[in-house]
Amino acid sequence: MTPPFARIADLHAHVGSLVTVRGWVTHVRSSGKVAFVVMRDGTGQLQGVLVKSQVPAETWERFGTLTLETSIALTGEVRAEPRAPGGHELGVTLLEIVGASPLDYPIQPKEHGVDFLLDHRTFWLRTPRQVALMRVRHELEQAVHDFFYAREFVRCDTPILTAAIGERAGLFGTEYFDEGTAYLAQTGQLYGEALAAALGRIYTFGPTFRAEKSKTRRHLTEFWMIEPEMAWYDQDDNMDLQEAFVRYLVERVLERRQEELKVLERDTSKLDCVSQPFVRLDYSEAVTLAQSKGSDITWGDDLGAPDEAIIVDTYERPVFVVNYPKEAKAFYMKENPADPRTVRCADLLAPEGRGEIIGGSQREDDYDKLLARLTHEGLPVEAYDWYLDLRKYGTFVHSGFGLGLERTIAWICGIEHIRECIPFPRLMGRLRP
Ligand code: 4AD
Ligand code: MG
Repeated sequence: MTPPFARIADLHAHVGSLVTVRGWVTHVRSSGKVAFVVMRDGTGQLQGVLVKSQVPAETWERFGTLTLETSIALTGEVRAEPRAPGGHELGVTLLEIVGASPLDYPIQPKEHGVDFLLDHRTFWLRTPRQVALMRVRHELEQAVHDFFYAREFVRCDTPILTAAIGERAGLFGTEYFDEGTAYLAQTGQLYGEALAAALGRIYTFGPTFRAEKSKTRRHLTEFWMIEPEMAWYDQDDNMDLQEAFVRYLVERVLERRQEELKVLERDTSKLDCVSQPFVRLDYSEAVTLAQSKGSDITWGDDLGAPDEAIIVDTYERPVFVVNYPKEAKAFYMKENPADPRTVRCADLLAPEGRGEIIGGSQREDDYDKLLARLTHEGLPVEAYDWYLDLRKYGTFVHSGFGLGLERTIAWICGIEHIRECIPFPRLMGRLRP
């Protein structure tokens, strides 16, 4: 009888029986009489033990040809072995080579520069730290859906090819038949607002595109954003939801991804701060605070990265900076009745210098004010007719926000640069692999 195939993560259910495990070689060593091969299959690590006197001669010979990342199938009996990586060992009786891996495999167990690693991203992704990051990403994506499903938000998919632009960021355009230029969506929000009027509470989760010429640790040209939009929420309701959402995401990773956080050497005590109420700091106070610590920011400017760092270092927990000046923010934000120079909005700054992870606001629901903002910004009003119509036919109080997935991963995992937080990063100077 041929033994069943098993994944490394499932070996606990096979202790004492014969299985075949397929995967890739990560280490080999031999004493001449006993040989060890460590392999990975994407679900874990397994050590296979070969005793020369007990395996067929071809199996012993094949062991001698194994190189890093050779793909193999190992057959043998599963033994519980707490000292082995992954907690199991395979008493190998048969070793088959599926695909050889020449000795020039690019990623060797030594230090490589990050550009080299990015050029070889296809292989870099196989290493333990990258595997851990992708698993945390996966956990967060699932947590997003679980959070909103439990609250009866409807997930909606919005177009990627658009005519109306949403943000003051760089645009990618492409010819669109006889319709002029189509822009890759910078945000799903404007469509989210239309959907909120149809469905009440919705969220989008999709790729967004910005032709950012900035080479920072926080900017990708293609990133994934979660954008909820809620009818009848004002800006305070909006921030309450964001706080619950971010807390849920962090707690979920702490609860289910301890193994991965360990691989990433994350000091998880730094994340305990999310259990406290988040700070809500008025923009004007934020400016005063930054100035008092040496920043040359003046009222009216957007906060720079150093200003953000001053603010979060002061509080050591997530901080909402609320009510920015109108001129620093996008056209769709609602004028603040208490101070019309400002808008009802908030950026959520993550601790540890991670910067803004959420941008959100209440939306301008007054037709005339919105039209005036569009005109003032020099935007082509005709492309926004449908968006203005949401204010003409049954306008409604509504709010929403956008959380950047990669920046959130970088914060939770303690990763310096967000390029590691997406499988194949798109940066100003990088379109491959
Ligand atoms: O603040 P932003 O530009 O807001 C919006 O796009 C709104 N339409 C959201 C909404 O209200 N529905 O972007 C939101 C978040 C940022 O806080 C950041 O986390 C992330 O998206 N982000 C980026 N992430 C990676 N690379 C970039 N170039 C990013 N630009 C924004
Ligand atoms: Mg923003």
